[in-house]
Amino acid sequence: MKISHPSRKVMRRAAATIRSGGIVAFPTETVYGLGASAFNPMAVARIFEAKGRPLFDPLIVHIADLSQMGMLASVVDKRAGRLAGRFWPGPLTLVLPKHEAVPGIVTAGLDTVAVRMPDHLIALDLIRRSGTPIAAPSANRFGYLSPTRAVHVLDQLGERVDMIIDGGDCAVGIESTIIGLAEGRNVILRPGGIPAEEIEALIGPVEMEQSAREHPSAPGQMPHHYSPRVPVEIAVDISRIDFLRADAGFLLYRKPGFDTPADRTLFLSERGDLNEAAASLFSCLHLLDRMDIRLIIAEPVPERGLGVAIMDRLRRAARRSEETVEESGRETGERP
Ligand code: TXA
Ligand code: MG
Repeated sequence: MKISHPSRKVMRRAAATIRSGGIVAFPTETVYGLGASAFNPMAVARIFEAKGRPLFDPLIVHIADLSQMGMLASVVDKRAGRLAGRFWPGPLTLVLPKHEAVPGIVTAGLDTVAVRMPDHLIALDLIRRSGTPIAAPSANRFGYLSPTRAVHVLDQLGERVDMIIDGGDCAVGIESTIIGLAEGRNVILRPGGIPAEEIEALIGPVEMEQSAREHPSAPGQMPHHYSPRVPVEIAVDISRIDFLRADAGFLLYRKPGFDTPADRTLFLSERGDLNEAAASLFSCLHLLDRMDIRLIIAEPVPERGLGVAIMDRLRRAARRSEETVEESGRETGERP
């Protein structure tokens, strides 16, 4: 069986696998990661191969102890220290000037490195036992939904990985917030598990990176990431959703005051709690993607707190759908 429960024996085997150049899927508080030793370029290359991820998309390096920062980043300034002190371990990734020892494949040749200390006992234990920082992207096939359960990893990557450690459901459920701190700027490269407001309260105003396409500094933030196979459409609001559509599944923020098709409606949070909604986003999308439907219609969530990251992921999922529609239109010559 590929999925292992994290006994001490399994953790020892997982660490030995990392040390000998293998790749191991492990839980974090955000999503499952697919890890390799950050200082073993051959092992890191296997991650890209397993995911079908292009080499220009750099990885996040995970640490278990602040003392590991020194071997990854060449400059750790006051802002980085304050953010790490307040939010680590936790869902925040810092992009800092890179130490020359970090292999180019990890950072996709950039002169910066992304670092994070995950808030999960299994992840921290794995890093400590491996004796090295662990480079890890989310453990999904490139472009597809991120995994928040071990079985999501098994479904997507199965035999391509050496081990999958089961840590149950991810508590945060949405990826880390990525903040770029190089060259004295504060730029949110990806909204995520720590709301921008909380970061601003600590280090002052931050810029929001609008489009990855125009800003090569976030090479991995492709506009069509996080997409299920079934197309996604975001409704203007719940009153505009056509619940009579028999070929659609519905992803609602909260339980409305009327009945909806019970077998095809999922609620991110019945009581309308944004943290709970973030935690269930990817597992709801995974479920909908397995239903016999042709469209997922999503209700927008309020864009505050974790709602910003939820809407970011939903928009990317929907953007992919638009592109797919355009492409198929082009093939059949239906486009104007
Ligand atoms: O919560 C998370 O961050 C999860 C867990 C496993 O830690 N990881 C994750 O990794 O979401 P991934 O590879 O799916 O997304 C990492 C993002 C990519 O969009 C990548 O382009 C960006 O981080 N990134 C990595 N290094 C970067 C750098 N030096 N500069 C700018 N963006 C960077
Ligand atoms: Mg990812």
